Amino acid sequence: MDKIISQRFLLKFNYDVIFTKDVFNTENYSLINLIKNKNIENKFIIFIDKNVYKLHINLVNNIKNYFFKHNKIIKLQSDPFIIYGGEVIKNHYILVKYIYKLIDAYKICRQSYIISIGGGALQDLVGFAASTAHRGVRLIRIPTTTLSQDDSGVGVKNGINFINKKNFIGCFSIPFAVINDYKFISTLSDSRFIEGLSEAIKVSLIKNINLFNKIEKNFKNIIKRKDTVIKYIIYKSAYIHAKHISSGGDPFEITSSRPLDFGHWAAHKLENLSKYKISHGNAVAIGIALDSTYSFLIGILSKYEWKRVIKLLININLPIYSKELNYKKNKHYLLFDGLNEFREHLGGQLTITLLKKIGEKIDVHEINKDIYIKSIKILKLTNFLKNVNK
Ligand SMILES: NC(=O)c1ccc[n+]([C@@H]2O[C@H](COP(=O)([O-])OP(=O)(O)OC[C@H]3O[C@@H](n4cnc5c(N)ncnc54)[C@H](O)[C@@H]3O)[C@@H](O)[C@H]2O)c1
Ligand SMILES: [Zn+2]
Repeated sequence: MDKIISQRFLLKFNYDVIFTKDVFNTENYSLINLIKNKNIENKFIIFIDKNVYKLHINLVNNIKNYFFKHNKIIKLQSDPFIIYGGEVIKNHYILVKYIYKLIDAYKICRQSYIISIGGGALQDLVGFAASTAHRGVRLIRIPTTTLSQDDSGVGVKNGINFINKKNFIGCFSIPFAVINDYKFISTLSDSRFIEGLSEAIKVSLIKNINLFNKIEKNFKNIIKRKDTVIKYIIYKSAYIHAKHISSGGDPFEITSSRPLDFGHWAAHKLENLSKYKISHGNAVAIGIALDSTYSFLIGILSKYEWKRVIKLLININLPIYSKELNYKKNKHYLLFDGLNEFREHLGGQLTITLLKKIGEKIDVHEINKDIYIKSIKILKLTNFLKNVNK
């Protein structure tokens, strides 16, 4: 008989996603309130996305003043480190090593803190290094794009790209806390600002019709970046994403479906086919358009609802088509390689999320490539007509 030691244990994790404005204002206590042990000098190092550093000219001084004011509790081990932002940094493992070296040089231990201030790419990179150095250093994320505030920054995934595949190296780990500071997103260009909302539209389509209705009704105010509606959308989207992680029963995605990744099999492949010229947010918008059109063509989504989805994307200036959808090698659509890559990344059988109706998804395990090709043609034509009618 084999001897077996059966193991089973449950772990409890907590982390807060805090919504605030001007986190490094000396009178703002969001950060200081997070510190558990206020009787010691807690060590910190900080990484800042270069574009955030350039556009928020007082940021470093504000950080230094903040740490000075609270110097009995928090200690900055060095001036903040500036790292380039954007997807390209996730292609360079050497940056992970750079962060490890700083963690070592500045004596950051598992009871110390790393703060990452930047977009989703910087969050994924610094998060990966922080989660693997010393098997996990406390990480406080301060996301600075709409996308990282409404989706990526509030979750439990970290990663970098490898062999031209997105997030090939990575890990699940729980941030110590997330602080969504509304002030940061003011410096995003209009296109960056809007593209991050594609994740909010995605989650509304598969989980929450009320959020979709709100976005649809307020599209003009969204384009004008009106505070009230934008704050609501970011909060609601972050809430749905975060609650899915804590209450969905599979925070580390052990099963083969990734229920929040509607539109993402195509999105990841488009990013890669465009050599990362198409941003994640825009790729997700195209992925949503594609999978919604496919859902309509196979008869599970009504024509009326399909039109609402496409119209909303167009109305808020998100793309619904890109030429990469049509890239071919020997008549084979390269996009479809994304299906297998998506499956391999998740493990198990292929699971693609489609739309049954607005606010309700359905998972399928097989797809019809001819109908996807027809979907691409429809989107190309719709995109053409949209441009003609401008
Ligand atoms: N971990 C996850 O669960 C998860 C989920 C979704 C997306 N992601 C990842 O997130 C990344 C996309 O993140 P993103 O959309 O935030 O883009 P990004 O991080 O690539 O940033 C886009 C650009 O905006 C700049 N920027 C950042 N903040 C700014 C600000 N406040 N003002 C002006 N410019 C600013 C950056 O320097 C960069 O040039 C992708 O790598 C994607 O794979 C991760
Ligand atoms: Zn995404």
